[in-house]
Parts: sequence; structure tokens; C-alpha cells
Amino acid sequence: MKFQKSAPLRGELSIPGDKSISHRAVMLGALARGTTEITNFLEGADCLSTIRCFRQMGIEISMEGDHVLVNGRGLDGLTPPGQVLDVGNSGTTMRLLSGILAGQTFSSTLDGDTSIRTRPMGRVITPLSRMGADIASVPGNGCAPLQIHGKQLSAICYPSPVASAQVKSAVLFAGLYADGVTSVTEPCLSRNHSEIMLDYFGARVHVQGTTVSIEPRPSLEGQKVEVPGDISSAAYFLAAGLLVPGSELLIKNVGINPTRDGILRVLKQMGADLSLENIRQDRGEPSCDILVKSSSLNAVSIGGSLIPALIDDLPVIAVLAAFAQGTTVIRDAQELKVKESNRIDTVVENLQAMGVSAEAAPDGMIIHGGRPLQGAVIDSHQDHRIAMAFTVAALASEGTTVIRGADCVNISYPGFYRDLKALAR
Ligand code: S3P
Repeated sequence: MKFQKSAPLRGELSIPGDKSISHRAVMLGALARGTTEITNFLEGADCLSTIRCFRQMGIEISMEGDHVLVNGRGLDGLTPPGQVLDVGNSGTTMRLLSGILAGQTFSSTLDGDTSIRTRPMGRVITPLSRMGADIASVPGNGCAPLQIHGKQLSAICYPSPVASAQVKSAVLFAGLYADGVTSVTEPCLSRNHSEIMLDYFGARVHVQGTTVSIEPRPSLEGQKVEVPGDISSAAYFLAAGLLVPGSELLIKNVGINPTRDGILRVLKQMGADLSLENIRQDRGEPSCDILVKSSSLNAVSIGGSLIPALIDDLPVIAVLAAFAQGTTVIRDAQELKVKESNRIDTVVENLQAMGVSAEAAPDGMIIHGGRPLQGAVIDSHQDHRIAMAFTVAALASEGTTVIRGADCVNISYPGFYRDLKALAR
């Protein structure tokens, strides 16, 4: 797709449902008894992969637009999938499902696309094996396909070496099937949507600092889940509103769970003109509307425990840093290397293509901002967040930008280009 410098962005838009919460609503809906009704479900390819996998295990799921009904069959209601469970591009589906499958009475194989086959699964194989699971990487390199033979699991206390909600959730979901209280301790807090939703569905979950514990064999009951908009999708509109001169946008229905809102804290620090309105709570998941006006930005330093609260937003934060005055340093973000692409390399490579002075570091990047950006050919590397972050860069750059593989936005935001177009008047 081709982009030029944009006219001011004005008006309002509603953000599609949160990807993490949409996945979890289907998973817990399937393991609960009775109907779970999900509204504002994210119709992105990743969440559709989760639906497909559960249908393959006998769960009836109906979908009309973003309205989804899951007919849960209880903790022991899944049936053998018959064929390989295909997670597509979705790391969340593969890792969270591993935890659930480890405690079943049947065997299963999880696989996905070429990107998912390069992503580290050892981080879930290790704790699940400690629980007694029979789970292995078929190629033997710690990556998918994964073969799982369900077994009775033992409870463990797992000190996770990474702050990863996918690891934490895989262990907690396996803990539903364990023989005692299972706990996970993280080096710092990752997104806590699983804990919140498990509690909402009736599990006994205890949180103390960065340790979460779960009691086994709860009776989960189907619930109504209203999914808040995904702050990591809102991030592109926040950035576009800030960078395109003369813009003023009202971004409605943005989830602002404190384990996810790191981007708002960083934007404030950069000098962004943002105001949060209509703040509300829905069963532990807060949301609001955000008014953003174009602003001149300053560089920032980002690292430490803030990183998990903005990990998915670092590509677009890096783009903002390229337009900000001064040098931005991003540290402690080595996890970027194992996302849908190596996001340290793909961000730095594409910033450089646009004429930005940027360097990769082992755990992040350094961006010297404040000089005009030039349109360029951008390789998305089939990574949705790279495609969207550099589309935003294009709107405030000189000349023409071509985004290669722009279709990959379907993973998390199928209407992204349509929504963007509607705002440029
Ligand atoms: C997710 C957790 C994060 C995030 C991913 C979604 C989740 O991954 O990057 O997009 O839904 O649990 P990690 O757990 O690998 O940090």
C-alpha cells in the first residue's frame, strides 16, 4: 500500500476489542459451564484461530460480527481434536492452549505458520514439564510443532525468568487441572487479564506482589464479557493524531488496565497533548475515551518494569521517537526479538530506510530524533505492528511510502486502513 503526507486527522473512532482479552474470553468460555456471551470481540485472524481450535475440540461457538456466543462444556468437556490444531500466527493461542491441553485426557499437536515455528516455546515447555506434563517440541529445537499427551498435573511454584503473560497464563490454566495450588512469580508484572478473568469466571485466584496462585478444579460459570478496545490498536491513532499537524481525534473505548497503559505514561512524558475522559470500570478492566491533539514531542528513556506494560507498542513508540527532539533510549526490551518479527531489527531497519539515525542494541534501540523523515519502501516482515507503526510514520513523512505486506494488519486490526482513511479529511 502507498501513503503520502496526510491531511489533518479529525473526528472520532471506536477501537476494536482487545486481542488478549478476546482470546481469554473464548478459552475460559469453553472451560466454563453454560453460555459465555462476548461483545466487541476482536475479529482479527489471531482470535479467529483460537475460535477455530476450540471448535475443533467440540465447543459450539457462534459468531455474528463482534458478538460471540461460546457454549461451554466445563473443565472436562473438550473432545480430542482429531487433527493438528493450527494456531496460525498466534503466539497467545499456542502458549495458553498448551497449558490447557497439558491437563486433558487426550493427545494433541499444536502448529502454526512459519513465523510461529521460529518463536520460543521452551518458555512454556519448561514449567509445564515441571508440572508433569508430557509436552515436546517435535523438531527438538524448542519451537512448534508441539506434541502434548494430556496427563494428571502436579501443582508447582514457578519462578518465571521472563515477565510474560503468556507463560504466566499457560501455567495458571494448567493449574486448573493440577493436584494443588499452583503459583507463578514473575520478575515484574506482565498483563494481568488472565487473573482478572479467571476470578470473574469463578476461579480462586490470589495475587500478592508479582506472585499469582490458583486453586485447582474450580467450577467455572459462563459469563457476559464486554471486551474493552485494545490500547495497542489505539496506539497507532494516538501516534497519528500527535504527529500529523492540525489533528484532533477522540479515540473511544480504550482499555487502560495499568498493566497495559505504559504508552500513555510515555506519551505524557514526551509532552503529548492527551486527555482521558469518561473513565469507567467493567469487572476489573478499566477503559476510557482519549482526546489527542497534535503536539511537538521530546525524547525519552524507557526501561525496567515499564517495558511489559508497553511491549507491543514499542514499534510505534520508536516511530514517535524519530519525530521527537533529542535521543530516545529503549532498554530492557530483549523480548522484542522474539515477537512476530525481531522487532529490534525490523524497527531499526525501517527507520533507517526513512533516513532516521537509529541503532540496534542487544536489549533495545537508540533513536536520534527530530529530523524530517523521507518516504521509503517498508518491509513489514509480515508483522502487523511493523506495518501499522510505519503507516503512521508515512503520514508525517516527505514523499511516498510503500508498505510491503500491509495485509498482515488483519492479525490484530482488520479495519485499520478503513478507519484511518475515514479520519483524514
Ligand atoms: C500477550 C502477551 C504478550 C504480548 C502479546 C499478547 C498475551 O506476550 O506481547 O502480544 O495475550 O498474553 P508475552 O507474554 O510473550 O510477553
